[in-house]
Amino acid sequence: MSILDKFSLRGKVALISAGAGPLFGSSLTEGLAEAGATVITASRSLERNQEYAAQLKARGFDAHGLQCDIVDPASIKALRDQVIEKFGKLDVLVNSALARDGHAGGGFETQTADHYRRSAEGDFAGLFEMCKVFIPDMVRQGGGSIINISSIYGVVSNDPNLYLGTTMKQPPTYNFVKAGMINFTRYLACYYGKQGVRANCISPGGYFDGQPGPFVEEYSKRVPIGRMLGNEDIKGAVVFLASDASAYVTGHNLMVDGGWTCH
Ligand SMILES: NC(=O)c1ccc[n+]([C@@H]2O[C@H](COP(=O)([O-])OP(=O)(O)OC[C@H]3O[C@@H](n4cnc5c(N)ncnc54)[C@H](O)[C@@H]3O)[C@@H](O)[C@H]2O)c1
Repeated sequence: MSILDKFSLRGKVALISAGAGPLFGSSLTEGLAEAGATVITASRSLERNQEYAAQLKARGFDAHGLQCDIVDPASIKALRDQVIEKFGKLDVLVNSALARDGHAGGGFETQTADHYRRSAEGDFAGLFEMCKVFIPDMVRQGGGSIINISSIYGVVSNDPNLYLGTTMKQPPTYNFVKAGMINFTRYLACYYGKQGVRANCISPGGYFDGQPGPFVEEYSKRVPIGRMLGNEDIKGAVVFLASDASAYVTGHNLMVDGGWTCH
């Protein structure tokens, strides 16, 4: 098998939570679809996921939209049953959904312990449940790849100076959740390695999404590559970690941050 064949995802089934989202969700889904995978996206709105899948199908990809609320274990279980019934297996699970509710409330001074409870419910419990529900299928079929979407802010802190002159907030719940995700991923990598299940993180930098000018300018000055992240930037990383090209890579946190965490 050539190295390019190892990067191919033909014949693999990939589920991306919040994979129809306009920023990372759709970039991740499209990268996996372009590499040949059958892609399934799922988040709270079935309609939104079905519409998005129809757009991908019109472009020649094998795409499907389902419903899932990561805060609701019954919804995750129902998603698993639909995936296994329809596709018979799951090779790649990408956890990209973020239950934003727990990260509301502004910065350190205005967030409350309740934001941490909601965050734990949505992000920790949701991530745990998604892995717990799908890993037995991966073990049964002899392997699989889990890819959790963390962040630069799971590794380093925000720089408060970047936000001067904007109304943007830096909720500390976010850093708490994203850092926890990275070490949870290492736990899975160790626990399931011998059963063929790999678990890795991708930690992206800030996606350009029309943020205020002063922020974009300061951010771009600080990042070695000199710009914020765009929708093509994450595709290579997710395809690598999903594919057999990364067969000996597990427990890794792949920074896709333009060098943000280098200094
Ligand atoms: N935007 C950035 O700059 C950035 C940087 C680094 C990492 N990330 C991470 O990338 C991932 C995607 O974020 P994003 O910025 O693309 O968009 P986003 O914040 O809009 O993504 C959140 C997605 O999660 C879905 N979602 C929310 N609650 C849910 C629930 N209860 N059940 C199921 N789905 C739910 C939403 O529908 C949405 O598509 C997140 O994990 C985020 O932390 C984002």
